[in-house]
Amino acid sequence: MKTILVTGGAGFIGSHLVRHWVKKYPDTKVVNLDKLTYAGNLENLKDVEDMPNYVFEKGDIVDCERVSGLFEKYRFDGVIHLAAESHVDRSISDPMEFIRTNIVGTVTLLNAARAAWNGDFAGKLFYHVSTDEVYGSLGDEGYFTETTRYDPRSPYSASKAASDHLVRAYHHTYGLPVVISNCSNNYGGYQFPEKLIPLVINNIRNRKPLPVYGKGLNVRDWLYVGDHVQAIDLIFHKGQVGETYNVGGHNEKRNIEIVKLLCLLVDRKLGRPQGDSETLITYVQDRAGHDLRYAIDSSKLVDRLGWNPSVTFEQGMERTVDWYLANEEWLRGVTSGDYLHYYTRQYGEK
Ligand code: NAD
Ligand code: DAU
Repeated sequence: MKTILVTGGAGFIGSHLVRHWVKKYPDTKVVNLDKLTYAGNLENLKDVEDMPNYVFEKGDIVDCERVSGLFEKYRFDGVIHLAAESHVDRSISDPMEFIRTNIVGTVTLLNAARAAWNGDFAGKLFYHVSTDEVYGSLGDEGYFTETTRYDPRSPYSASKAASDHLVRAYHHTYGLPVVISNCSNNYGGYQFPEKLIPLVINNIRNRKPLPVYGKGLNVRDWLYVGDHVQAIDLIFHKGQVGETYNVGGHNEKRNIEIVKLLCLLVDRKLGRPQGDSETLITYVQDRAGHDLRYAIDSSKLVDRLGWNPSVTFEQGMERTVDWYLANEEWLRGVTSGDYLHYYTRQYGEK
């Protein structure tokens, strides 16, 4: 039986990945190491928690002893590293935690893998999950490719860029078998409602203002989370060691388009008059250093590994809205307590 370590498996993308892996690969033991920060939630994994090939280990990726202990205990064949502080706005108000988890945590894992594998790299792989934000911001034209120069512009993206460099450095210096993917904005169920899409759906439900930064003209390239997970599976099994793959959905949308579409979908599904929720749209102060546009060229992944997104933007958004409306209890659970303090700090109101 193979054993893999997934870090950050209780978060948004991590929980989709763990669920996918545990069900699709019954002969692989999946060990999920997660600190359970505000963004990690074991409720996200209820349906797999009793599966025989799934194990949860609570812990911090910065804790060297804990991480090496797990490598000794389970003798991992592979690592899929997702654990991170992931929210740009939080990195602007409090960068240190991003440096700790995203940089020091990644090096801690690299050191543990290197020590445990001890030069015997056959069948081993360290997969680092990263973001398109490392490439910086585009103007009205062009796409990020794998050779675009790194130009991170927020503490979050700078910390992710540093972690990418360190992963590559361990490959070049020590021969550690690594692969990296840089993905665009994900959306889907189980995303913490500090991020645009779940935050707006939740606020529409509760008839609260829908905060749009600046003029709402910034562009993101949206990918359904299940298609990101499929890409990670494909790259893990078929990707070339030492390579980087960009992952994106070719769904460029301005933020205001996303917010208006969500108003339309939620109003329709809740039987509210058309246009009702658009009155909640509120333009607020822009994010500091707000990147204008992200757009991914994923042709390397498509041409070399045959990946293609399976869900259209329309299907994905419909599924996502349905998920949040059907999981009000989950939303209520994660938007109580600390979330209210965060919300007041960020938006100046409850
Ligand atoms: P998330 O914030 O939803 O989840 C992060 C998870 O990591 C949580 O479960 C949290 O408890 C855990 N974690 C945080 N610090 C930890 C630590 N020190 N030790 C152990 N566990 C810790 O994040 P997400 O949106 O699912 O993103 C997952 C990964 O994918 C991140 O590396 C992120 O940079 C990358 N990524 C995200 C997106 C996106 O759109 N969400 C796009 C591209 C890449
Ligand atoms: O591009 C990949 C990245 O996508 C990931 O690496 C990050 O982990 C993930 O959080 C996401 O970053 P963004 O900053 O693009 O996502 P967010 O949902 O925070 O914001 C999306 C856009 O919406 C962005 O232009 C800011 C804007 N926005 C966001 C919020 C939370 C608003 O206008 N209002 C809001 O309240």
